[in-house]
Amino acid sequence: MGHLLEWSRAYTGRLLNTDDTVSSSVLSTLQERLKRELGDGTLPFLSMTYVAQLERDMALVLPKVKPFRHMLLLGIGGSALGCRAIQNAFAPGQNLPDHNGPSVWVADNVCAEQFEALLARLDPKETIVVCISKSGGTIETIAQYFLVKDWLMNALGEGWTKQMVVITDVRKGYLREEAVRHGLASMEVPDHLGGRYSALSAVGLLPAAYLGVDWKGLLEGAASVARPLANGEPMKDHPSFALATWAHALMNRGYSQLLFFCYIPQWSVYGPWFAQLWAESLGKEGKGSQPVAATGVTDQHSVNQMFLDGQRDKGCLFLTSRSQPGGRSFGSNLPEKWAWLRGKPFGNLLEAEALGTRMALCKSGVPLVNIDMENTHERSAGALMMLLEATTVFTGWLMGINPLDQPAVELGKRLANTRLGAPGYSEEEADLKAFFDVPRKEQAF
Ligand code: PA5
Repeated sequence: MGHLLEWSRAYTGRLLNTDDTVSSSVLSTLQERLKRELGDGTLPFLSMTYVAQLERDMALVLPKVKPFRHMLLLGIGGSALGCRAIQNAFAPGQNLPDHNGPSVWVADNVCAEQFEALLARLDPKETIVVCISKSGGTIETIAQYFLVKDWLMNALGEGWTKQMVVITDVRKGYLREEAVRHGLASMEVPDHLGGRYSALSAVGLLPAAYLGVDWKGLLEGAASVARPLANGEPMKDHPSFALATWAHALMNRGYSQLLFFCYIPQWSVYGPWFAQLWAESLGKEGKGSQPVAATGVTDQHSVNQMFLDGQRDKGCLFLTSRSQPGGRSFGSNLPEKWAWLRGKPFGNLLEAEALGTRMALCKSGVPLVNIDMENTHERSAGALMMLLEATTVFTGWLMGINPLDQPAVELGKRLANTRLGAPGYSEEEADLKAFFDVPRKEQAF
């Protein structure tokens, strides 16, 4: 049966499928665009033309990182979230008691307290550092790189270069210069593969391979979803385009939030990964829908009340798998009050509660598509990632915005750099001055 999209409750409430079809002229323009952008290399996440090089690089670099007990990953945004999702889904051992195997520690913030705590606990001699930045110049990542480089040098002297790997642009950027200058092992982020579309490149897959995750399975699953699009089959028949059409119609009908309700708890960190993909790609020109990641069943006891009975501004992607393990069963000794659970596997709760919540959302009129995965193997996760990435790009095209850039977040970065004393930001210096010139209105509490 494979993975399924279940559509019976998708077009409901203010969303009527008759009103929201894409015209044939729009469709043929988009089909042409897809052909063009696959051809000119703008969509490497979909064409996956980078895979042969990735496999060659992996063969060289993986043996260098494997012997280490810890991997310290420096990166942020798209350079960190895919790895974190994959680690939590497929190498959860390091989150459990008495872990002995390899561990990946993702440093994606600039909290000095957390950073010091991490470095204090890691032994540099047992740690391979992987610094990931497509641009090679992201302040958070580069700042960590400088500090961790010193940390390694203090412990290893010249040997630090053997314990630093960079994943960055093939030709340009500060990190690439560092790799060349010091002869660091490196892997590439291919041209046009932006951070949030890069989890299935070296960015997410070197850490995955280090952890023993079936990284080739992730790629195969992704390729199985990408193939019809890459082969020029009609995009209107592809599930990602159906999802994009639906998501776009939701926006047009005032549904300003898109829930990603994950009832595969092992995959819960795909929620933040998807949220970043959706928000950074589609929050443009006053348009888009706010992604809201939630995990079942945990969030039934937190945000679900708002989903069910708050503003009627939410659509929902509801993620389940029909092959979750049953686990241990309840004994026959359960008290009479709970006798209906006797003999049932614990896993039945997840299935029943997912159904209950899905039905409740539908009853509240939330337009909902159920993504039901055949199983929770790596291949399936790869398929889901590709489905969501393609959906995101096509939704952006239907909205008439560029889903591959993120211009609005640049301002905050420039202002932060100015605050830190970076030269060349005269306009931002004036902005900072104007900001501080406004009299403060303080209230103690
Ligand atoms: O998705 C994106 O493009 C961003 O979130 C980037 O991944 C993030 O800003 C980090 O950029 P870089 O990989 O260039 O350091």
